[in-house]
Amino acid sequence: MHQPEFGDRQAPEVGELTPPTRTLMGPGPSDVHPRVLRAMSTPLVGHLDPSFIEIMDETQELLRYTFRTDNQWTIPVSGTGSASMEAAIGNLVEPGDTMLVPTNGYFGGRMAEMARRAGGDVVEVDAPWGEPLDPVAVQAAFDEHQPDVFGFVHAETSTGVRQPDVPELTSIAHEHDAYVIADCVTSLGGVPLKVDEWDIDAAYSGPQKCLSCPPGASPLTLNDRAMDKVLSREEPARSWYLDLSLLEGYWGEERAYHHTAPITNVYALREALRLVAEKGIESRWARHRETAGALKAGVEAMELEMNADDEYWLPSLNAVRVPEGVDDGAVISDLLEGYDLEIASGLGALEGEIFRIGCMGHSARPENVSLLVSALGQTLAEYGADVAVGAGVEAAAERL
Ligand SMILES: Cc1ncc(COP(=O)(O)O)c(C=O)c1O
Repeated sequence: MHQPEFGDRQAPEVGELTPPTRTLMGPGPSDVHPRVLRAMSTPLVGHLDPSFIEIMDETQELLRYTFRTDNQWTIPVSGTGSASMEAAIGNLVEPGDTMLVPTNGYFGGRMAEMARRAGGDVVEVDAPWGEPLDPVAVQAAFDEHQPDVFGFVHAETSTGVRQPDVPELTSIAHEHDAYVIADCVTSLGGVPLKVDEWDIDAAYSGPQKCLSCPPGASPLTLNDRAMDKVLSREEPARSWYLDLSLLEGYWGEERAYHHTAPITNVYALREALRLVAEKGIESRWARHRETAGALKAGVEAMELEMNADDEYWLPSLNAVRVPEGVDDGAVISDLLEGYDLEIASGLGALEGEIFRIGCMGHSARPENVSLLVSALGQTLAEYGADVAVGAGVEAAAERL
């Protein structure tokens, strides 16, 4: 057999970049707003350029507005949502701390894994996949385990469930002197979230869901109480890159080099947040509720079933039950191939049981909902499902 000599590898012939134009109605990323794309083609400045320092300040101020917080410690973390998630958990959980995590979805499991890697002990509060946490169960878990940190998922992307009763959960945690970390990846900018009013100590998110922005710089906010714990750790956080006591040097008063910020992603996030501020956060929440409400009305009129109860329906992620006998994977690939429309399948306990249909950010538009309802209905009908396509399309149109 011919053994290539060192250095004789040929230059690959790779054509120009021409990805297909998709409509992104899955669990994220969602469609990016054209203004955000334009901001991303703006020339770079250095990450310590005085003009970039101003952009950093503006981005932080816009993030505070969007999170509904006055927290000084509000930054975009370099990396995807998992980076802001690990920054929150890896800094707040110290070796020997106990963290209480939920079992009602995929991302509670990721919280547990990150807490263990931070040297913490993990205890769980149970609820079935597809249901929110019950404050009574959270209270019982606190009484039994006395955790130091409590994490919950405000918008569970794997099940389409919005956690209600957040102030009740945070007050249980604070009565036990614990810190609260909220996963807001699929809620920030899409469904009501009030970090200060709800007394959340640390909240993290991602830009690629309800903010109409590509992944890369991920929102994080911590109040002074949480930051005091981080700054008085006995042992440094295990990740150097995500150590908030070091990142303070860059995002705090000093503005000194820690790592090279993803400048283009910060531009993108700033523009995405400017869009939020221009229309106002409440009107953005309302737009998500109304547009996703039309989507929900459409699928229900087609006689499909939503997986989550109306009471904790999550407008940004609609979990729709796969009709009996239908292969969800085949439907998903037909939608992609035939309509350039992306939706996703269920994860974990809901694999094969649900379609996950996002309605987030720039994807939450009437034309996308019309396309989704008619394309999904027709495709399901082709696979023999008993769906009333016309009634679905009409119901969605009435609401749009
Ligand atoms: C609820 C939730 N948490 C965390 C994450 C992780 O974010 P990322 O995939 O951007 O790292 C996601 C991503 O889908 C999510 O939906």
